[in-house]
Amino acid sequence: MRLEGKVAIITGAANGLGLEAATIFGREGAKVALVDYDKELGEKRANELIASGFEAAYYQVNVAEQSEVQSMVNSVKERWGKIDILINNAGITRDSMLLKMDASDFQKVMDVNVNGVFHCTQAVVPHMIEQGKGKIINTSSVSGVYGNVGQTNYAASKAAVVGMTKTWAKEFGRKGINVNAVAPGFIETNMVATVPDKVIQSLIQVIPLQRLGQPSDIANAYLYLASDESDYVNGTVLHVDGGIMM
Ligand code: CAA
Ligand code: NAI
Repeated sequence: MRLEGKVAIITGAANGLGLEAATIFGREGAKVALVDYDKELGEKRANELIASGFEAAYYQVNVAEQSEVQSMVNSVKERWGKIDILINNAGITRDSMLLKMDASDFQKVMDVNVNGVFHCTQAVVPHMIEQGKGKIINTSSVSGVYGNVGQTNYAASKAAVVGMTKTWAKEFGRKGINVNAVAPGFIETNMVATVPDKVIQSLIQVIPLQRLGQPSDIANAYLYLASDESDYVNGTVLHVDGGIMM
């Protein structure tokens, strides 16, 4: 098992990529804190993992709220004694063309996708420094690196994630903490289900692999970056996008 005995916090774990990661991490021997603001689904997902024989716990947290994040990190530490892995996966979209975009929708996306990552990382890093080791994986996006029509707010937030990743890789490398990002392409989850079908069809044409990605494509990248196999990988942005960004 590639994560035997490790303690992992995964945000946005009630759905999509986070849920797939929680399942794979559980199977690989990790104790998983499923963090999500959707209580009903989050609790259900954690109970399903526990019923499959994995060690898991659900935490209701809005990552945009610093105090909620801090209490969650304190409770995970109290429950399992350490924190080895943080996957900053929670994220939202509020797509519209720039001229139609409400300032409040710009702000909401920044609050979750940027401030949420900042809050979670700031809360776990002291524990990782104390342990002398830790793995932080942030979720960027093809949109944050190349831009995307209708995603001014989201692209800005995911570019910010790249900047924070590289900065923290430089700040905490000497403390034994690896900080990396995954930049997914278009993956079949609820998030992509909101994209008009004609946009999806035109996207598939320009993806060299000629298909959307599956949640496991990303969860396996998270697994690599969370495991000891990636101990010399730091500050990188791993593109998992079927080749759309070449
Ligand atoms: N590329 C080029 N042109 C595009 C385009 C695209 N991807 N999407 C829309 N357009 C064009 C339209 O053809 C249209 O052109 P005309 O004015 O010449 O007719 C113009 O932009 C306006 O488009 P709409 O008529 O669709 O405008 P709307 O206001 O009804 O909707 C929108 C705008 C909400 C942005 C809608 O087009 C949309 O949802 N687009 C998809 C956005 C997208 O790709 N989101 C990704 C979500 S998944 C995700 O975010 C995960 C990730 O990290 C990748
Ligand atoms: P999803 O919408 O299926 O799941 C996101 C989960 O995050 C949901 O369970 C939601 O309740 C939770 N969440 C949202 N805001 C939260 C908050 N403030 N606090 C706590 N939990 C919150 O999305 P998906 O597709 O699984 O995306 C996961 C991550 O991957 C996001 O950061 C997204 O931006 C990113 N991404 C997704 C891509 C895709 O094509 N699906 C492509 C590139 C990046």
